[in-house]
Amino acid sequence: MMVEEIKLIDYRNYKQLQLQFHPKLNIFVGENAQGKTNILEALYLCAIGKSFRTSKDQELVKILKDHAYIKTTISKTTDKTEIEILINKESSKRIKINKLSLTKYGDLLGNLNVVLFSPEDLKIIKEGPSERRRFINNDISQILPRYYHTLTQYNKILQQRNKVLKNYKGKTLDLEVWDEQLIERGAWLIVYRKKFIKRIAILAKLMHKKITEGLELLEVQYDSNIKIKEEDELKDIKEKFKQALKEIKPLEEKRGLTLVGPHRDDLIFKINGLEVKTYGSQGQQRTTVLSLKLAELELMRGEVGEYPILLLDDVMSELDKKRQNYLIKNLKNVQTFITTTMMEPLNIKSQEEYKLFSVCNGEINRLSLK
Ligand SMILES: Nc1ncnc2c1ncn2[C@@H]1O[C@H](COP(=O)(O)OP(=O)(O)O)[C@@H](O)[C@H]1O
Ligand SMILES: [Mg+2]
Repeated sequence: MMVEEIKLIDYRNYKQLQLQFHPKLNIFVGENAQGKTNILEALYLCAIGKSFRTSKDQELVKILKDHAYIKTTISKTTDKTEIEILINKESSKRIKINKLSLTKYGDLLGNLNVVLFSPEDLKIIKEGPSERRRFINNDISQILPRYYHTLTQYNKILQQRNKVLKNYKGKTLDLEVWDEQLIERGAWLIVYRKKFIKRIAILAKLMHKKITEGLELLEVQYDSNIKIKEEDELKDIKEKFKQALKEIKPLEEKRGLTLVGPHRDDLIFKINGLEVKTYGSQGQQRTTVLSLKLAELELMRGEVGEYPILLLDDVMSELDKKRQNYLIKNLKNVQTFITTTMMEPLNIKSQEEYKLFSVCNGEINRLSLK
C-alpha cells in the first residue's frame, strides 16, 4: 500500500501543506526542529490514531489555533481510502474514512499499516517490559483489529479487578466474576501473542543472519508469567491462567494488585545464546532492532497481503554503511519515508527512484539533485 497524498492544516508547525508522495522513496532533509518528524507523525497518526511522541492530541494543534486537520489518500492494489482526522483543542478528535465518521477509534486500524523505525526503538531492547509490550500490541493491533478490542476490554477488567483488590481490607474477597472475564480475554491475548512472536522470531532470525553474514543467531522468545508451552491451546492457557491466579491470590490481596496475566508479559532477545539487553554491544542492539523492523514489514505483508509503509526517522545516520545498504536494498517494494539532516550518508543512485523534499520552518519544497 502507499500514501499518495497528504494535506495538513494547522498541524504542528504547518499552516497549510499539500504533498504528493513518490510511490517508493520520499526523503525529507532539513536542519533540526524544522518539521521533518512532524510529517512522519502525521502519517503514523492516520495509521494508528495516535502520535508516537505524545498522548496529548492538543499538542498536535498549531500554537494559537483551535483545530488541526490531516487528510491522507491511501492506495492499495484494489482500492483507495481517504482518511481524515480533525483534532479539536477542546473536545476529542474525529476520524473519517471515505467521508464516514468512525464511532470507535479501533475501526481506523487496518486502513493504513505502518512500521516506524526511530532511534527510540532501541528502548525495545534496553528498557523495561512495557516498551516490548507496546511493540507487540501495536503490531498485532494493526494486523488484527480484533486484538485491539480484546486488549481494551482486558485493560478495563484489569483496572476494575485492581480496584477491588486495593480496597481489600481483610474481608473475604469475591473475585470470581472478574477472574472469569480476565481469563477469557487474557487467554485470547496470549494466544495471539504466542502466534505473533513465533512468526516474528522466525523472520527476525532470518534477517539477522543475513545482515551479520551468518555470524549471529538471533532468538526472540515469549516470556509469559503464565508458564505456557509451545503446544498449549486456548483451553490449556485458560486453565493455567486460572491456576496461576489461584496460587498468587494471597500475595495479590497483600499487594492490592493483579500480579499475573498478559499485562506482565515480556520478550527476550538473545544473540548466540546471550541476552542482548545485558550482553549485546551497541552495534548488536541496533542490528537486533533493524532485524526486528524488517521482520515486521514481512510479517505485515504476509498477513495483510501488501507491504505497510515504512517511516525511518533519523535512523540512517545511526547505521553503518553496510547496514544502510542492506536496508535500502530490502525496501524495493515498500513505500518509505526517510528524515535526515544530511543527504550524504544516503547511498541512493537514480533520481527517478525518489522524491527529495527540503523542510524548513514548516514549509516543504521539492528539491532535485544536480
Ligand atoms: N503545536 C505546535 N505548534 C507550532 N509549532 C510546533 C508545534 N509542535 C511542534 N512545533 C514545532 O515543530 C518543530 C519540531 O518539528 P520536528 O518535526 O520534530 O522537527 P525535526 O525537523 O527536527 O524532525 C519545532 O520547531 C517545534 O517548535
Ligand atoms: Mg526529527
